Amino acid sequence: MQALILAGGEGTRLRPLTSTIPKPVVPLVGRPFIAYMLQWLRRHGIEDVILGCGFMADAVRGVLGDGSELGIRLRYLEEPRPLGTGGALKFAEDLLDERFFMLNGDVLTDTDLTAQLEQHERTGARATLALYPVEDPSAYGLVRCDADRSVREFIEKPGLEELDTNLINAGAYILERDVLAGMPPAGTNVSIERELFPTLVGRGLYGYEANGYWMDIGTPERYLQATYDILEGKVSTEVGRELGGRGLALVDASAVEGRVVAPVMVAAGCSVAPRAMVGDRSVLGEGVTISERARVEASVLLERVTVGAGTTITGSIVGRGVTIGDGCHITGGVVVGEGVTIGSGNTLAAGARIFPGVELPDGAIRF
Ligand code: GDD
Ligand code: MG
Repeated sequence: MQALILAGGEGTRLRPLTSTIPKPVVPLVGRPFIAYMLQWLRRHGIEDVILGCGFMADAVRGVLGDGSELGIRLRYLEEPRPLGTGGALKFAEDLLDERFFMLNGDVLTDTDLTAQLEQHERTGARATLALYPVEDPSAYGLVRCDADRSVREFIEKPGLEELDTNLINAGAYILERDVLAGMPPAGTNVSIERELFPTLVGRGLYGYEANGYWMDIGTPERYLQATYDILEGKVSTEVGRELGGRGLALVDASAVEGRVVAPVMVAAGCSVAPRAMVGDRSVLGEGVTISERARVEASVLLERVTVGAGTTITGSIVGRGVTIGDGCHITGGVVVGEGVTIGSGNTLAAGARIFPGVELPDGAIRF
């Protein structure tokens, strides 16, 4: 089977992480995010994948190549300008088989695509959407179904008064190629959620209630949650299996003198100085340096970050090549962009976002 993955969004809600790295290849526990999706597809026998790119397409291609390392045939389609989720589908039309999967490219999941396909065949659907229960559907597409699983209504980003089910569109569809016939011509900006699915109601649109793990990683909070869930084995991934076999601590560094607390992943070339602590659901990318008495908890530090003595980092994300001075406190969903320099004695909190290249002098910010 074939799959089209939508990977062309700008990832605005994940900025400044996505200011310099396209969302599909933002590292998640040491590997490009889309690699998790490709491994999930492969487990369900899908080996022919088209990536619908737009924003920073070359960077995506540079990281993933032709897919052969993952045992997948990977092709790239580059939209001249953002065409929306439906426009990206229409743009791919010439490459598509009669029946194919279409997936949002920012979802970490292990739902059963094989069972979804079985239901699609059984009901004779033209489109089968995976549905997943969430606490607050307002950030998603709300889907109301009838007892026979046919979709009665699809409401993208519903208002509070419309929240009468917790089932949302999980961003994994099986489509028959003929649903493209009635769409606006290629090159038009179209939302599949707002403009195609509502027109398919009563005309072969079905919902499949998925089980397992599901998370849209498109905000810093959810990106961190997905990190914790991989480390703790709450979602079925190859990384999780590797971690599970090694006592939840994948430590590749040669220079660890401080304490490393599972679950944790520490990549090659890192150093953790004496009396420093790293762990409790943290990830260090390659070449990270942690100085004496520093503490890193429930945080992600990408490649080549340097953390000064006595600095604490909790529940935050630090981009590539960031330098943080001594005695800083970074806590509560802070996102630091690539190449930022933070002088000593700064306190960053409450979801602060520091954009790439910024230099904060010593003691510039306190709470
Ligand atoms: N190629 C291409 N071109 N891809 C795009 C474009 C585009 O113009 N716009 C968005 N995408 C991709 C994004 O990269 C992402 O992988 C996917 O389409 C969904 O876009 P988001 O911007 O992340 O949408 P959302 O999270 O607000 O809502 C969507 O996903 C929810 C589940 O996570 C909708 O499909 C909702 O109905 C759904 O519940
Ligand atoms: Mg999303």
